[in-house]
Amino acid sequence: MKNRTILITGGAGFIGSHVVREFVNKYPEYQIINLDALTYAGNLENLKDIENRENYTFIKADITDAAHILEIFKQYQPDGVIHLAAESHVDRSITNPTAFVMTNVIGTVNLLNAAKEIWKDNFEGKRFHHVSTDEVYGTLGETRLFTEETAYDPHSPYSASKASSDHFVRAYHDTYGLPVVITNCSNNYGPNHFPEKLIPLCIHNILNNKPLPIYGDGKFTRDWLFVIDHAKAIDLVFHNGKNGDSYNVGGFNEWQNIDLVKELCKQVDEKLGRPEGTAAQLISFVKDRPGHDLRYAIDATKINKELGYKPSVTFEEGLSKTIDWFLANQEWLDSVTSGDYQKYYETQYSK
Ligand code: NAD
Ligand code: TYD
Repeated sequence: MKNRTILITGGAGFIGSHVVREFVNKYPEYQIINLDALTYAGNLENLKDIENRENYTFIKADITDAAHILEIFKQYQPDGVIHLAAESHVDRSITNPTAFVMTNVIGTVNLLNAAKEIWKDNFEGKRFHHVSTDEVYGTLGETRLFTEETAYDPHSPYSASKASSDHFVRAYHDTYGLPVVITNCSNNYGPNHFPEKLIPLCIHNILNNKPLPIYGDGKFTRDWLFVIDHAKAIDLVFHNGKNGDSYNVGGFNEWQNIDLVKELCKQVDEKLGRPEGTAAQLISFVKDRPGHDLRYAIDATKINKELGYKPSVTFEEGLSKTIDWFLANQEWLDSVTSGDYQKYYETQYSK
């Protein structure tokens, strides 16, 4: 087994915390460094179970601070970087696009520069893994799937910033020879999901008997993947992906928002022992999101064929595990929805 030092950015966030846990548990011989600024979306409670492990270190740092990032890279000398730190919510990107440029674009370039600087020209055994989204491809009509060859066509400030960061990662590979891989994943769901996104927001609102806001006619379609299956895909691509390549990650699991929320309501009612239809009464159609992409759907053939990747749970199982986690962790939900969240919620949903 090889000793490695892997720096994971955004490890206190939703997906990052599952990636950190997967690596800390699976690779005791690696040193795992979690670098995170602990914004509203970052929460060390997400990693309570592994915080005292010998192969785990947390560093509070902001990736927009180039000098601090370089200092950390010089001190810890990571030979692998898995970059997840980002501003990640489309609705927030519509109200404050600049924050998305700062973290997602400038922050990514700061990390690329630091990796390039400490690795000099000796790229043997090094890897920069950039974690991105299928939203860079823009929107699909009712047919077709996104492949790795689909042209980038982002519409929201969030997806524009992620597309830009993907281009910079590829540019550092093509220009300087930096060893990189990129994963573009579909919508994730699971434990620790911040309740600004559709699934955890609806779970939170059902538990608080509040309306379930469905944008527009609810016929917008997303392709959903259980977060632990995303973490497993990242592990696979980080270790076995081809240098310079991109991999789409998804589970061939498309749902229209309205159908997904109805399924969620049904499962919550069952788990709470209430008559079917109780939670669904809370469904409320609200004003649409500006520039709302109609449909995302991933063709995951490349990662399936080349790396043997397959999601481990069905959507029904994953959703059931997710609801169970939220029901068992209502304190977590209460703590992340106090304070600033209230202000965000009122501004976002009073329109
Ligand atoms: P998240 O918002 O839950 O977490 C983001 C983390 O990044 C937080 O811990 C936050 O504190 C940290 N962070 C933010 N700005 C930072 C900065 N300037 N410096 C250091 N840390 C900072 O996001 P997520 O949903 O876990 O997404 C993680 C990554 O995966 C993102 O790059 C996102 O674009 C990508 N992604 C997300 C999804 C999804 O469905 N959520 C799907 C595909 C790809
Ligand atoms: P979201 O979870 O914000 O992820 P993304 O925008 O990155 O796909 O939204 C998923 C879908 O649900 C998207 O079509 C927008 C819709 N949506 C609602 O209808 N109501 C809501 O309150 C939210 C947050 C999202």
